[in-house]
Amino acid sequence: MRGAEPIVLGIESTAHTFGVGIATTRHILANVNSVYEPKAGGIHPREAAEHHSKVASEVLIHALREAGLSIRDVDAIAVALGPGMGPCLRVGATLARYLAVKYSKPLVPVNHAVAHVEIAKLTTGFRDPLVVYIAGGNTIITTLVEGRYRVFGETLDIPLGNCMDTFAREVGLGYPGTPRVEEKAMGAKSYIELPYVVKGQDLQFSGLLTKALRLVREGARLEDVCYSLIETAYSMLVEVAERALVHTGKREVTLTGGVARSRLLCRKLEAMAKLHEAVFKPVDPEYAGDNGAMIAYTGALAYASGVTMSVEESAVRPMWRLDQVEIPWSRTAKLLRNS
Ligand code: FE2
Repeated sequence: MRGAEPIVLGIESTAHTFGVGIATTRHILANVNSVYEPKAGGIHPREAAEHHSKVASEVLIHALREAGLSIRDVDAIAVALGPGMGPCLRVGATLARYLAVKYSKPLVPVNHAVAHVEIAKLTTGFRDPLVVYIAGGNTIITTLVEGRYRVFGETLDIPLGNCMDTFAREVGLGYPGTPRVEEKAMGAKSYIELPYVVKGQDLQFSGLLTKALRLVREGARLEDVCYSLIETAYSMLVEVAERALVHTGKREVTLTGGVARSRLLCRKLEAMAKLHEAVFKPVDPEYAGDNGAMIAYTGALAYASGVTMSVEESAVRPMWRLDQVEIPWSRTAKLLRNS
């Protein structure tokens, strides 16, 4: 314990990153991550899991050293059980169970998407924002309503980050896709109409990706296609986020996940928020991509609210949705604010 605050070690291994963080309910004490880079193509779950197993002990030792702590100083072990890729998730879960049993520490389940939201709240100082969560594996607009993060829009097919990564890879721009496509778009001369697919509050990006790739194959200027792709995808997203903001009446807007590093998307969301007299701030870029610190921090919030699980309950949950998770610490925070 640090004062009255529990110290929690958190393990991230849902996709390409193996990370270990250490945090209290107020501070990040360590954040050490190792990212698997595929030799070619997208993430291969087995290869990523192999990478995670290889680096796990080194990352763990490095994180403890960074925090100046021994494993015995830690009050609980948190782990991201999902959503994510089964083989990758199992590496983190196995390490968490081993540490919990060997050192008699409680285990805390963390939903990876909830962790992206919570780290954005910590680093922006926002209390109750509308959250736009965009990454290689997710595209979700969410906010807290009565103790849960409710979904006010999501992708019905591929995530936005995945759309950009696939496009960039196919046209030879490399990885990660979003910054490369944005950079190329700077040289555009004209906009080419692409499929703009918003269904109610939900989005579809695969038609947009197919058409953009076809245009490049047919000889359209790559700069123009990049510009059209970025503008269309971001406009779809901002339209849905704007409706969610007006509907929920929130006063703060944040952007989290790997794509939160996009200055262009930040500018668009900021302009939209301003129109509705809301404040916009993205997550700290250090914590935009997947990382161990966000799992440790969310684990600390959960543990302080009494959330734990037994080893038997710690099976991985590859399809675990954000809106299935109870957020008991939101009620505590509300009580504290009102007292
Ligand atoms: Fe993520």
